[in-house]
Amino acid sequence: MNKKIIKNKNIILCVSGSIAAYKSIYLSSLLVKEGANVQVILTESAKNFVGESSFSGITHNPVITGYYDSKTSLSIDHIDIAKKADVILVAPATANIIAKIALGISSDPIVGSILASKAPVIIAPAMDGDMFKSEQVQKNITELIGFNYYISGPEKGRLASGMNEFGRMSEPDILFEEIISIFSKKKDYEKVEAIVTAGGTIEEIDPVRYISNKSSGKMGIEIAKALRDRGASVTLIHGKIDSAEETQGIKKIFTKSAIEMKNTIDNLVDKCQIIIMSAAVSDYKVKNISKEKIKKDSLDYIQLEKNPDILKGIDGSKIAKVGFAAESENLLINAKKKLSSKDCKIIVANDITLEGSGFGSDNNKAVIVDLDGEESFPLMSKSKLAHKILDRAKKFID
Ligand code: PMT
Repeated sequence: MNKKIIKNKNIILCVSGSIAAYKSIYLSSLLVKEGANVQVILTESAKNFVGESSFSGITHNPVITGYYDSKTSLSIDHIDIAKKADVILVAPATANIIAKIALGISSDPIVGSILASKAPVIIAPAMDGDMFKSEQVQKNITELIGFNYYISGPEKGRLASGMNEFGRMSEPDILFEEIISIFSKKKDYEKVEAIVTAGGTIEEIDPVRYISNKSSGKMGIEIAKALRDRGASVTLIHGKIDSAEETQGIKKIFTKSAIEMKNTIDNLVDKCQIIIMSAAVSDYKVKNISKEKIKKDSLDYIQLEKNPDILKGIDGSKIAKVGFAAESENLLINAKKKLSSKDCKIIVANDITLEGSGFGSDNNKAVIVDLDGEESFPLMSKSKLAHKILDRAKKFID
């Protein structure tokens, strides 16, 4: 993480009335420590939770609390700071301020600044878990995503109400990283339509039993997020996934079996430029799925038949195909075979026997193989690997 990138950047930190407002004091300190010029706007209700002087003491800037208490050289404070802003962060963002931003109700300087600025906007919601889940808040958040605002969190955890739910504001360290990533972010996948597959397919045996695998979906979700963050429009087609990762701004389609996944991909593939298949697709399905629960004495034999190879069946001349190879031996040899037999531009080969890598873990160790050669990476977070894959795949969609 290149912290130096925020030196001399103008950051507007908008604080609305939530118990989480105290975290923004620490966040402002993190930003100022790295040389950012932080301008805080406090709503009237935020003042019930944190004091103006805490922020002005840390940022060495006057705090804007209303439209009519002019403190900047222009004497129209929100316009002055909005024009200079490199990023605007609303943290914590209550349901009230989220609704106002979504509708452009500029009754306070937070909304006024956002409307008057062209800077990227990060929103960090903080509220009760049921409030966050409510149709109204979700609808407003969808609106904000539509304006290309970044939504950070909320995280799951203990809330002021005592509930253990999604509603906690992202921690200051996470928001700090997100600000840095905005400044370092490439937007090299802008205008690209992408399909990513994730998770394990489910092949039913009878109404209670099925065949699946250990895929958690984490790898595919990280790829979808990396694509979204780099400007692509992403559809994530997934089987069984365990991850509670935020996937805002990503269209998700659940498909159960390999056949369902194939049909869904076939319907979308023509309008996409890249498909990245990290899903663990079952090679076989049950020949005759039983409508009734099979008695345990009759379960010693299940007849299987081959599933179609989804990746192989996609026309590689129309879309850049990136496949994975989950291998327990001869990693590179098998990856190269899959590269040509499946007509892929890239194969990402991961050794699934390695501790802390592959299925279910947050990290992965992989070799990226294409016709120009191979690049081997050490064990790294799936998020980081996702970006490495995109760096390599970009040349195939230019
Ligand atoms: O989900 P995680 O827990 O994060 O784990 C990530 C992962 C280990 C599942 C992932 O990194 C991975 O290796 N995914 C591919 C798993 C797999 O099915 O590998 P394969 O070598 O059997 O298949 C090769 C490629 O063909 C894959 O891109 C697969 O999606 C595709 N395939 C396979 C079978 C089939 N019938 N149709 C396909 O399209």
